[in-house]
Amino acid sequence: MPTALITGATAGIGAAFARRLASDGFDLVLLARNGDRLKETARDLHETYAIRTETLVADLATEEGLTAAEERCRDGVDLLVNNAGFGHGGTFLDVPLGNEIVMLRVHCEAVLRLTHAALPSMLERGRGAVLNVSSVSAFATRGTYGASKAWVVSFSQGVAQDIARRARGKVRVMALCPGFVRTEFHERAGMNVSKIPEFLWLDKDAVVDAALRDLRRGVQVSVPSPQYKAIVGLSRLIPRELVGRLSSGAGRTYD
Ligand SMILES: NC(=O)c1ccc[n+]([C@@H]2O[C@H](COP(=O)([O-])OP(=O)(O)OC[C@H]3O[C@@H](n4cnc5c(N)ncnc54)[C@H](OP(=O)(O)O)[C@@H]3O)[C@@H](O)[C@H]2O)c1
Repeated sequence: MPTALITGATAGIGAAFARRLASDGFDLVLLARNGDRLKETARDLHETYAIRTETLVADLATEEGLTAAEERCRDGVDLLVNNAGFGHGGTFLDVPLGNEIVMLRVHCEAVLRLTHAALPSMLERGRGAVLNVSSVSAFATRGTYGASKAWVVSFSQGVAQDIARRARGKVRVMALCPGFVRTEFHERAGMNVSKIPEFLWLDKDAVVDAALRDLRRGVQVSVPSPQYKAIVGLSRLIPRELVGRLSSGAGRTYD
């Protein structure tokens, strides 16, 4: 059985990946900070899909958590889903500097280190994939969050190019850029999203379906759903400063 390691596997998009991959027959390594929730998720998936599950209680903002996750990736996984992430409860200067640094650690350093740990054994075996969850914010202007997600896109494309010869199309690296998805994300960040129009909300299972379809096709940057494909396409045609003015406020009101 192939094995997938998913960070942030207990809620939202990560939990949707876990369920879908379990139903596809993957054994799972589930990573998050809350151990009770991890155990519950693992038990449920094992009982429903008869797969093997491992849990890894790790905070990817800490050296200890990062090292434990790296070690598990080095042991070999067939699919790494770097998904764990969070939003801030304010704009730049409203958020303590320490929180901005934690964001860079979880969104960038963890993605860098786990990708670095997982790829060698994938290349050796001639199969595998790394799926890095970015955001449509990567193409907009949304403080440190958007900047960190832009790094994820650029990093994923860069790595995909760097390994292309050895990978021979059999080891893939993809950035996934969803728009607004109903998860615990906004509530955890204290974001007020009541004014976001319904057509901008995506279903997490549909996001996962689109991501896995794009991964199979060898897409490097996946933007699920026609509405966000159109928005991203448009954002490339208008001046960057205007994109910044239009995008920096949307959904960024805080309770
Ligand atoms: N929801 C959206 O609208 C949206 C849109 C675009 C992109 N995204 C991206 O999608 C990814 C998943 O977000 P989501 O919406 O599914 O969020 P969510 O529902 O809040 O789930 C976040 C998951 O990450 C884990 N996590 C958070 N911080 C962690 C840390 N320091 N170490 C280890 N695990 C951690 C959480 O578990 P514990 O709390 O137990 O650690 C939880 O399992 C994020 O990278 C986010 O930026 C979300």
